[in-house]
Amino acid sequence: MSRIRKAVFPVAGLGTRFLPATKTVPKEMLPIVDRPLIQYAVDEAVEAGCDTLIFVTNRYKHAVADYFDKAYELEQKLEKSGKTEQLELVRNVLPPHVRAVFVTQAEALGLGHAVLCAKPIVGNEPFAVLLPDDLIWNRGDGALKQMADAAEDSGSSVIAVQDVAREQTGSYGIVATDGFAGRSGRIRAIVEKPKPEDAPSNLAVVGRYVLDGRIFDLLEKTTPGAGGEIQLTDAIAALLEEQQVHAYRFQGTRFDCGTHLGLIEATIRYALDHEKLSDAARGMMQDALSELGVVDLD
Ligand code: UTP
Repeated sequence: MSRIRKAVFPVAGLGTRFLPATKTVPKEMLPIVDRPLIQYAVDEAVEAGCDTLIFVTNRYKHAVADYFDKAYELEQKLEKSGKTEQLELVRNVLPPHVRAVFVTQAEALGLGHAVLCAKPIVGNEPFAVLLPDDLIWNRGDGALKQMADAAEDSGSSVIAVQDVAREQTGSYGIVATDGFAGRSGRIRAIVEKPKPEDAPSNLAVVGRYVLDGRIFDLLEKTTPGAGGEIQLTDAIAALLEEQQVHAYRFQGTRFDCGTHLGLIEATIRYALDHEKLSDAARGMMQDALSELGVVDLD
């Protein structure tokens, strides 16, 4: 498989689990410490070698397009007042060699349908899909870079997986493999949100995919599945009939920022790992725990 250049960010979901916050602020714009979720996903895609970023949005998500647009007035003001550090931050949301393309998903018909909306831009080449609410923290290579390398080596599509508790299988796509060699294992079957008693394993798909362009033809034929939505998982199940697809146990810690606890956990982790804020954040957390009587640190 050739190196991926294009990354799709399906961000047209309704974000109902985060209401009322997401009534006006898209879930992808919620910040973790000093950057919105979408920025972390974009940085990961750029690190993996992508130079064309395709955002699948809806008519309520102007904030995502505005964020990647040039902010003339703001930049002029920052320049005039000599705030060069802030100016760099605003300018560097996208590196100069990277272009952003926006397509609209008119109706939230499911993740598979959202990915299909990117077909006219992606064409028939391998590409990445990143769900920004799955935030993956790692000190070394980002998860997508690891997967892009694996896809190049194996020549096949690669899907990120992690082990979850059996009682959680109903929240994920679940894969069955023929076993793993290192971090990679060939997928035998994939099923969306199975009940724990029906799940073929407890290996859950998380929001990173490197996919062969053939997936678009299969998505076009995919009918609504679990939850009445057009599921990416179902199209991947069809892809398995034709090609090898590998599950990849990435190195890193994944936070499910589509949930309250995941967002809190990610905030704590990134604050404690932040180059400027780490010490202060640690002190605050210790104070909060001892003031609330959760732990006695004396
Ligand atoms: P989620 O299942 O997290 O749905 O979608 P959601 O709407 O964002 O959030 P909740 O469950 O209502 O709180 C997984 C990913 O797929 C995208 C979402 O934006 C998210 O990145 N998605 C989902 C779409 O782009 N379109 C859809 O029709 C459905």
